[in-house]
Amino acid sequence: MNDLKGKVILVTGGTSGIGEACTELFARSGAKVVAMSIQDEAGKALAEQLTGEGCQCVFHFGDVSKEEDIKAAIDLAVEKFGRLDAVHANAGVLRNQKITELTLDDFHMMIDVNLLGPVLVAKHAIPVMERQGKGTICFTTSVAADIGFPEHAVYCASKAAVVALMRSLTVDHSPKGVRFVAVSPGTIDTPMLAASCEGWDQPKEVLYAEVAKKIPIQRMGQPIDVAHAVAFLLSDDAEFIGGSVIHLEGGTLALPPW
Ligand SMILES: NC(=O)c1ccc[n+]([C@@H]2O[C@H](COP(=O)([O-])OP(=O)(O)OC[C@H]3O[C@@H](n4cnc5c(N)ncnc54)[C@H](O)[C@@H]3O)[C@@H](O)[C@H]2O)c1
Repeated sequence: MNDLKGKVILVTGGTSGIGEACTELFARSGAKVVAMSIQDEAGKALAEQLTGEGCQCVFHFGDVSKEEDIKAAIDLAVEKFGRLDAVHANAGVLRNQKITELTLDDFHMMIDVNLLGPVLVAKHAIPVMERQGKGTICFTTSVAADIGFPEHAVYCASKAAVVALMRSLTVDHSPKGVRFVAVSPGTIDTPMLAASCEGWDQPKEVLYAEVAKKIPIQRMGQPIDVAHAVAFLLSDDAEFIGGSVIHLEGGTLALPPW
């Protein structure tokens, strides 16, 4: 079940939160993982720890919004491990503010990392996967693509765009063996979420407890909840799933609108 053994997987944003849990789960499941991010120290430490456990993992420092960095990460996977079975295009950033307070730098940062990053991953991973006749790209979107979160307008738009991108790529490239899927996390306990709580009048723990009470499954999500879903989507067990989004939100989207 969900066998990732021997698969070569690139994880962008693979050294913190959701991406870190994915890197760890995939590597410990026998995959050969390239973890890419802009966290040099954390990345090297993660790769060293996993290699010390007998897993296969390398860290690649790179910015997903730079075409040459994405290309270098994909080349590294192919040169070191011989092929590229899957990419988890997961790197993301959040700047929460009302649009009237949004700076153009924040706009460009969210669009560059959250949308241009996945576009560049697709542009450079698809040719490799089409040559192989097989490959899977899983994007990390968000329930922010479906819900009007307060003070998240550009973030919401960037995540909705990724869903549209994933569906359109399915039509263009799945006939040549490349599958596209997405995971849509709700509220997941990661450094990004903790940073978004800064400036509130309550400590993070109190805010998290309040949020957990509102979620039908009555707890916050953990990065491993998302990693388990991505592992399934990247495995051959999911080979008939294409153009779909799996929500990891504890039932939040099922709530009535009152
Ligand atoms: N935490 C949540 O509640 C939540 C909910 C829905 C969606 N998401 C999405 O999940 C993904 C992971 O978020 P997280 O919560 O684990 O956040 P995180 O901040 O813990 O991790 C983000 C990762 O992306 C990397 N990154 C940021 N900018 C980058 C760049 N320019 N180039 C390369 N790497 C870059 C960081 O180095 C880090 O490794 C993001 O796409 C985020 O939007 C998170």
